[in-house]
Amino acid sequence: MTTRHAPDPSARAVLLQATADGIATAAAELRTGRLVAFATETVYGLGALAEDDAAVAALYAAKGRPSFNPLILHVADLAAATRIARFSPTALRLAEAFWPGPLTLVAQAREGCGAALARAGLDTVALRVPDHPTARALLAAVGSPVAAPSANPSGKISPTTAEHVLGGLGDRIAAVLDAGPTPIGVESTIVFAPVDGPARLLRPGGVSLERLEAALGASLASDAPATDGPIAPGQLRSHYAPDARMRLAAARPEPREAWLGFGADPAGLGSRPRRNLSPTADLAEAAARLFADLHALDAETPSGGVIAVAQIPETGLGRAINDRLRRAAAPRD
Ligand code: TXA
Ligand code: MG
Repeated sequence: MTTRHAPDPSARAVLLQATADGIATAAAELRTGRLVAFATETVYGLGALAEDDAAVAALYAAKGRPSFNPLILHVADLAAATRIARFSPTALRLAEAFWPGPLTLVAQAREGCGAALARAGLDTVALRVPDHPTARALLAAVGSPVAAPSANPSGKISPTTAEHVLGGLGDRIAAVLDAGPTPIGVESTIVFAPVDGPARLLRPGGVSLERLEAALGASLASDAPATDGPIAPGQLRSHYAPDARMRLAAARPEPREAWLGFGADPAGLGSRPRRNLSPTADLAEAAARLFADLHALDAETPSGGVIAVAQIPETGLGRAINDRLRRAAAPRD
């Protein structure tokens, strides 16, 4: 088990099943300030009690995350969210349309709402009501907000299975609440909805831009795909990075490249490492497989190798997939 203040290199996370017992154990660990990864419908999150600054500090340390990067507070329902932040009519409309679900709303934090370290000292706060039954049961059992970034070391590929979490953070956290592969596979869509001023899309994700705009009956300005200066603190350009380099929108792989396909594969792929996100070109299937396929190809590609990736359409969930691929392909520090 991990200690409160420093990761213990000899520790190994306990794998908990998503049963009533497993959920109760996970909730008890969180309440005593330990770090527990858990399944959501998007990706696995690494949870810490949001109001426990020591737990949140341990979370930043475990991820190796720059501490200016604020976390999403996961809450059980809209009522809990509106106790923490002020919701504009637009924010309420989006919450009612998409919660529980893969949407994060950034809104003005209420005076005295706590969780200062999780919010990285900002006067705004990111909130999400997840839709996964395991996450919902866990939040109900904990009874207070759980700060949870994706459960990967900072800058690495996001986890969609408990095995991914153990591979990246297994020696730095108390437990993983395992509910199998996550169904959506890319992180939540993030919308900034201030009380004064228009809403803006900060990160494409599990709720497509088209669905957001249909719910709003209006178009939504977009700060994503992120340009060089981070808009949301922590929208680092190089992110989700595999060790291999990435070549995007490729028609076919070069002789020594691995291949990540979408739709029908080109002929003559031979015995190279390869995966196909969706042979039928289904974007929801591709999103669900994206990170698992990147993890697998990265492991199979020799060091210094390249993963060539097929073109993915920039519509619906394709926007979130392309955003993650562009970050995976971005130059590294
Ligand atoms: O699907 C998800 O959103 C997953 C699961 C676990 O819920 N979580 C997730 O968290 O992706 P994370 O920490 O990997 O990404 C959160 C993003 C970061 O880019 C962060 O900068 C942004 O949310 N964020 C958090 N608070 C913010 C704020 N007050 N203003 C703008 N962006 C914020
Ligand atoms: Mg992340």
